[in-house]
Amino acid sequence: MSIPWDPVSAAKGDYKHFMQKEIFEQPRALTDVLRGRIDLDHGAVLLDELTFRHQELRQLERIYAIGCGTAWHAALVAKFAIEALARLRVEVDYGSEFRYRDPLIGERAAVLAITQSGETVDTLAAMEEARRQNAKSIAIVNAVGSQAARLADGGAIYLHAGPEIGVASTKAFTTMLVASYMLALRLGAVRGVLSADEVRRYIQALIELPGKVERILERQSIYEELAERYHGARDALYLGRQVNYPIALEGALKLKEISYIHAEGYPAGEMKHGPIALIDRDLPVVCIAIRDSVYEKMISNIEQVRARGGHVIAIAAEGDTLMASKADYVIEVPPTLPLLTPVLTSIPMQLIAYHMAVHRGCDVDQPRNLAKSVTVE
Ligand code: AGP
Repeated sequence: MSIPWDPVSAAKGDYKHFMQKEIFEQPRALTDVLRGRIDLDHGAVLLDELTFRHQELRQLERIYAIGCGTAWHAALVAKFAIEALARLRVEVDYGSEFRYRDPLIGERAAVLAITQSGETVDTLAAMEEARRQNAKSIAIVNAVGSQAARLADGGAIYLHAGPEIGVASTKAFTTMLVASYMLALRLGAVRGVLSADEVRRYIQALIELPGKVERILERQSIYEELAERYHGARDALYLGRQVNYPIALEGALKLKEISYIHAEGYPAGEMKHGPIALIDRDLPVVCIAIRDSVYEKMISNIEQVRARGGHVIAIAAEGDTLMASKADYVIEVPPTLPLLTPVLTSIPMQLIAYHMAVHRGCDVDQPRNLAKSVTVE
């Protein structure tokens, strides 16, 4: 007797989709990306894969962080991290723009290419441009032995996230963030901006992230409720501020690509400069409003949305009782250092998109018109 066996379903295990499986793999992936790269006792980030001499790292004047799509959002977070922790200027560019704007890179600059597949043609072109101008490039990359890893003469920081099959990037994104934090901490230490104690405080918080992601993943019922309520929406708005503004962009991209609902991500302060005109009784607005230095500002943005009839789904800190009275729905995330919150706030973004897409009967793992890796222009 032969037992029918389908390798695809076997790889999915008990999950309905690869995307769902990859979302739930994040606690493991976030642990793996840190493994062997941090030394809590000495307050040090190792990153031995970097080929720069200490002197070169100290003399760096600028980093060009490059990516496409979700990886570009990771580059935006990397800018916040490197500028805050290493006081080093970072310019963020889309690979497709960088290659055609005749950039002035300079020898005391480096290109930081962020890419899951390591084969995205526009990101590779940025690395080639760096080489042409005698600047080194570093890759934050998942696919081992990929073109980006080979081109990275400054070193390839592997994500160790394992294969990502779902077209919508999930575990690669959150591990890109953690790799960026480690790079920022390493730069901050070498450049004398951070003491060992400060680095240790961040390392401790990074170590705690996988457990906190696990806690977010335990609460699933809210997403089904949201999908039931909003699956018919035509548009959605995502708002965040500071380091969570890129996560608002990422939330909107995730929703667009797998559920085909039109979504816009905005820094919340920009709302009154245009997107506020979209708000009506049919518009769900996802607001990232954790307890950070811009919390009060987010509260006032939420009030503006509610005053115009919009529905607010807030991503808020655990135990934020005020938020319960302000928003229609609240999704809680555990506390961490403000700069690291994107790793946690990303998880509800993925789950909202996933459940909406499932509810709408979309092909979650292979959305129309999209390829996992864009190797042509
Ligand atoms: C992510 O959900 C998208 N499918 C897409 O934006 C992707 O991040 C982009 O094409 C870049 O891919 P890469 O990370 O392999 O370079």
